[in-house]
Amino acid sequence: MLAIPGLLAGGAYLGAIVFAATAPETLYVGHEPKQPIPFSHKLHAGRLKLDCRYCHNTVDKAAFASIPPSATCGNCHSGADAKGNVPYASVRSESPLLAVLRQSIATQDSIPWKKVHDLPDYVYFDHSAHVNRGVGCVSCHGRVDRMDIVRQDKTLSMTFCLDCHRNPEPHLRPLDKVTDLAWVPETSATKVGQEIKAALGVHPKTNCSTCHR
Ligand code: HEC
Ligand code: HEC
Ligand code: HEC
Ligand code: HEC
Ligand code: HEC
Repeated sequence: MLAIPGLLAGGAYLGAIVFAATAPETLYVGHEPKQPIPFSHKLHAGRLKLDCRYCHNTVDKAAFASIPPSATCGNCHSGADAKGNVPYASVRSESPLLAVLRQSIATQDSIPWKKVHDLPDYVYFDHSAHVNRGVGCVSCHGRVDRMDIVRQDKTLSMTFCLDCHRNPEPHLRPLDKVTDLAWVPETSATKVGQEIKAALGVHPKTNCSTCHR
């Protein structure tokens, strides 16, 4: 939205940021919008142990973590088609709680999921840059696998981002544990983090243009 040149020089630019930051859609901990379908992470990611990437399959490839299309839900929740074939599994395919899903699959209109986390447009964020450097989902989203309704767990403020960029070691984990929200290091987190930092060459930046470009 706003270009980076003159970030520090341009009082107008900083003014615009401050103005935007006070707009009502900014983030807050506990933000928990009601969704069009009562989809539960506690059930699907917690009890059924589906990996986050089964649904958010761009999270380690792109800046944006995709929200799954209805067809992904249909892998399990579709009923039999006109010929009586069930695509993969047929779980609760008649449930009234899934009426919006059935309609979405039939009409091919996507489900209007409400965004939970939403940084201001003047902040640049990239999921893959974090996930492929050993920063797990839990660091920024908390125990989503225990939430029936997703709610914002961290402030996602500039201080929150910078605290980790300045001192990432205690927050780093092996790459195969980034979606394992329950994982805790057996020894000291800082020691594990130091090893991962060295092995992956992790050096988060703190200059303004990293996040405001
Ligand atoms: C079966 C599919 C599925 C799985 C598995 C899944 N999610 Fe989701 N996730 C969704 C859907 C659908 C939404 C949008 C509706 C909502 O917010 O509940 C969502 C929303 C989210 C959001 C909020 C996005 C926003 O708008 O800010 C986060 C964060 C999230 N998921 C994290 C995770 C994590 C972490 C895991 C693994 C522990 C995971 N998800 C596993 C389907 C899934
Ligand atoms: C890998 C299979 C699988 C996928 C994919 C899946 N689900 Fe489910 N879902 C289940 C199972 C299994 C249950 C039922 C668990 C039970 O009976 O207690 C369930 C239950 C539900 C329920 C509760 C239904 C009721 O009547 O209680 C809703 C709502 C739901 N899922 C929505 C979704 C949505 C939306 C998606 C896609 C974002 C999705 N599911 C993807 C397996 C899946
Ligand atoms: C370093 C912090 C951080 C980590 C780690 C992280 N996220 Fe996010 N996530 C965010 C922020 C910040 C947003 C809001 C982005 C925006 O509004 O531009 C977000 C948004 C999302 C969204 C909504 C779609 C989007 O990209 O805006 C989903 C889904 C999501 N995260 C899932 C995950 C999953 C799954 C993982 C782990 C594999 C994960 N996140 C790891 C900070 C993080
Ligand atoms: C828990 C630790 C942690 C938190 C919290 C965190 N980051 Fe990061 N960030 C990292 C690490 C580690 C890297 C990867 C550095 C590297 O590639 O060497 C990174 C990289 C980035 C990059 C990529 C830089 C580039 O040049 O590719 C951006 C952009 C970024 N972070 C923005 C944010 C924003 C915005 C927030 C807050 C919403 C945030 N980060 C919160 C640890 C964190
Ligand atoms: C690691 C990412 C990151 C870096 C580096 C960063 N910022 Fe930010 N900045 C953010 C995020 C995230 C927000 C949004 C905070 C919110 O909405 O609560 C923000 C908000 C702001 C705001 C709006 C007012 C406020 O504090 O909420 C200003 C002004 C700002 N940044 C200036 C700077 C300057 C100047 C630098 C360099 C010294 C810088 N930022 C470096 C992530 C970063």
